[in-house]
Amino acid sequence: MHDQPPSACPHGGPAAPRPSAPDLFTWEFASNPYPAYSWLREHAPVHRTELPSGVEAWLVTRYADARQALADQRLSKNPAHHDEPAHAKGKTGIPGERKAELMTHLLNIDPPDHTRLRRLVSKAFTPRRVAEFAPRVQELTDQLIDRFGEKGEADLIHEFAFPLPIYAICDLLGVPREDQDDFRDWAGMMIRHGGGPRGGVARSVKKMRNYLADLIHRKRADPGDDLISGLIRASDHGEHLTENEAAAMAFILLFAGFETTVNLIGNGTYALLTHPEQRAELQRSLGAGETALLETGVEELLRFDGPVELATWRFATEPLRIGGQDIAAGDPVLVVLAAADRDPARFPDPDLLDLSRVDNQHLGYGHGIHYCLGAPLARLEGQTALATLLRRLPDLQLAVEPEELRWRGGLIMRGLRTLPVTFTPPGR
Ligand code: HEM
Repeated sequence: MHDQPPSACPHGGPAAPRPSAPDLFTWEFASNPYPAYSWLREHAPVHRTELPSGVEAWLVTRYADARQALADQRLSKNPAHHDEPAHAKGKTGIPGERKAELMTHLLNIDPPDHTRLRRLVSKAFTPRRVAEFAPRVQELTDQLIDRFGEKGEADLIHEFAFPLPIYAICDLLGVPREDQDDFRDWAGMMIRHGGGPRGGVARSVKKMRNYLADLIHRKRADPGDDLISGLIRASDHGEHLTENEAAAMAFILLFAGFETTVNLIGNGTYALLTHPEQRAELQRSLGAGETALLETGVEELLRFDGPVELATWRFATEPLRIGGQDIAAGDPVLVVLAAADRDPARFPDPDLLDLSRVDNQHLGYGHGIHYCLGAPLARLEGQTALATLLRRLPDLQLAVEPEELRWRGGLIMRGLRTLPVTFTPPGR
């Protein structure tokens, strides 16, 4: 299927003539990037492009190349390896993180530091802790539906997909209930980046960071049964996280686990509403008390239109080749998970949503040593949210035409700005 050699990239590829690359990062592209990704996979699978920020980077779009790049330790996560021109400084991380001293987190470091920190956090953030959290996720989900259910209409992003993960992660971390609405506001500012006031994101990041540092201080004196206390307690061969490391860790759990889950619920619900046969099949199986289709279904929704469109930044530490393309030391590389997960060389009928797909090793949670640490929590929240929506609001439908919906258009994440729906209020 991929028989063409990687062809003419502006950065030193062979000069074989080919049609010009589609426009990337336009509003049209944000609504539906998949035709452009299909083109790139076919014609320029490792493609150098200028991003809207002005930074140049390589986009990797084929599944095999993407999987290999995600596991390639010559691609560093440490931005210090970026051979960055002055205009690119500070444009490859979380807005505000440099000033906020949040740099030492899992997505910015390499082994051996990464190995040590990941081992420590894995001791606190265990699949068992997540499984024990299931009743609380169900309770939060039901409370949110209770709040908007009577209206018979809602914006599922703002009233459901957005609050659920922020309250869930706050509860898990041990943020007291009375402070959680502050988190909701700060997180709201972060998710609106671009649309919010100037400097608002950096200010929100700073407030969160200060709050977490203070909370860690208090939990050290008075530990509880929460994840932050677990992070403080976690030790490995006598080693502990410093307070700074614990604060950066709590922040990255929030940051990595929040918008991603909002978009899993948003994109997933949207995909179900626009694929009525698949949705009906899922509703039938849930009605029969089965969970198998829900489990394979959420994985398929991640593959089909996942929340993380591009994996986070990687930088070549030495000259290397990906998919036959030479990459220079210092070059940024972005693995396009959304393109790899629609690669026909890996997935039969990749543009078809098939909730029962089983051979589905998608890259929606990444691959290799940075594989998503929160995948068990994301699965729990995604499965609970979608199953409860379909069970309690069985005639849920889009209130607008799909073409009227607006996508956020950020670089890394893919998600809807709003998702207006109508339904019969539960119990009527
Ligand atoms: C559907 C929801 C989610 C998706 C699609 C997702 C996706 C990803 C992806 C693709 C990566 C790898 C990025 C890369 O290699 O560049 C990643 C890493 C990570 N995720 Fe998630 N994530 C989700 C939810 C969560 C949640 C709920 C948490 C925690 C509360 C979380 C915490 C993390 C952390 C800490 C990392 C960094 C791991 C490391 O560098 O070792 N994620 N996630």
